[in-house]
Amino acid sequence: MRSLAPSLALLISTLALAGCEAGSNYPQTTFRPVSEFGRLLNGVFYNTFNWTMGIMLIVIVLILFAAFRFRERPDSPTPKQIHGNTTLEIAWTIVPAIIVVFIGVPTISTIFDTQREPPEDALRIEVIGHQWWWEFRYPEYEIVTANEMWVPTGRPVSLAMRSADVIHSFWIPRIGGKRDVNPLPRRREGEAPKHDNYLLFTVEEPGQYLGQCAEYCGEAHAIMRMTVMAAEQQDFDSWVQRMRTGGPQTTGLPPAQDPAAGALVVAEGQAPDQEGGAGAIPAVTPAQVIDAPVPAQARQPVFGQMPSPTGAGNPFRAPLPDAVLLEEGARIFQSSSCITCHAIAGTAAAGQVGPSLTMVGARPWIGAGASAMNHENLVAWIKDPQSVKPGTLMPGTRTAGGGLPPTGLTDQEVRAVAAYLLSLK
Ligand code: CUA
Repeated sequence: MRSLAPSLALLISTLALAGCEAGSNYPQTTFRPVSEFGRLLNGVFYNTFNWTMGIMLIVIVLILFAAFRFRERPDSPTPKQIHGNTTLEIAWTIVPAIIVVFIGVPTISTIFDTQREPPEDALRIEVIGHQWWWEFRYPEYEIVTANEMWVPTGRPVSLAMRSADVIHSFWIPRIGGKRDVNPLPRRREGEAPKHDNYLLFTVEEPGQYLGQCAEYCGEAHAIMRMTVMAAEQQDFDSWVQRMRTGGPQTTGLPPAQDPAAGALVVAEGQAPDQEGGAGAIPAVTPAQVIDAPVPAQARQPVFGQMPSPTGAGNPFRAPLPDAVLLEEGARIFQSSSCITCHAIAGTAAAGQVGPSLTMVGARPWIGAGASAMNHENLVAWIKDPQSVKPGTLMPGTRTAGGGLPPTGLTDQEVRAVAAYLLSLK
């Protein structure tokens, strides 16, 4: 027993250190909650964990003690029989019952705490699970977005969740526990209305929090991820403003690039967006999103420097100002089958089947976490989405998908559309 204590202490401290390490390295940990909802759940976890660990420790010590102390020796007499000992029977019935009360009462009170009615000033967001992406609707602001949910810090957020197809599960580990997202069953006549599943929380720390679908829902279940952007009120307001108008780029001619400043300049006749580029979204210039090397002496026509795979007659062969390419991308997007499924605020595109692409260039991922958002990945995605995310319902340029025929876009058209989508931020 004496030699066991130090190694036990070492094991416990190693586990504790490993826990801290994991907390700083893994973005999807439940052990660093950023909402009161997450903290309540963590409290229940630790309460239960501590009680059960204490019980385990006592049981192990008693077993070891009994095994050594009462082990069989040659000529040992028959042990004293304790069957039917009333005191012992009462003790080992009452003690566990008391422990269950200490675990049960805080757990039940947390259930009531987290299921309470949302306060009047709560931000209401409708969450709709799709195979395989997330839709977020903000009725208060009349905006719709996908896979990236913005919330203001310090304000209660009330999610009303349902599914458009199969059962999904909404889970942002640092904000709180997972909750099923169910398809709403059809009502029979005279039946009371079925309601959504709800989740209520207040995020306290600004930041980006990762989450994912936590219920197997088909082929691309593993790539049904999402991010929550928790921002200070003014940054959130600025995001709302950009989402409502579709950002400065979609309201008129795409702005030209200022070669000196390397920043986007608002086109003539447009109201400058004072808050654009501020807050959590870093301003990314087209030069950063196109991978082709750009000679320093010819920085201005950035997109004109792209290698041109097609030959004569290609309108993109000659160096073009990027504004023209973006405009071309916008034109192709608006006149192709893209708009059957996708909507972009501030434009005629109003498809409802696929994710909204309003300010899609500002999102961190393509295809609900399939790849990082950049020009090269976006081109690969538009050309052949199934090779990036097996199962996705989006058609490619040569492959059908989700019951839709191939888009038939050429490589140059895909590059223009990708550049246009990236500029939406
Ligand atoms: Cu949706 Cu798994």
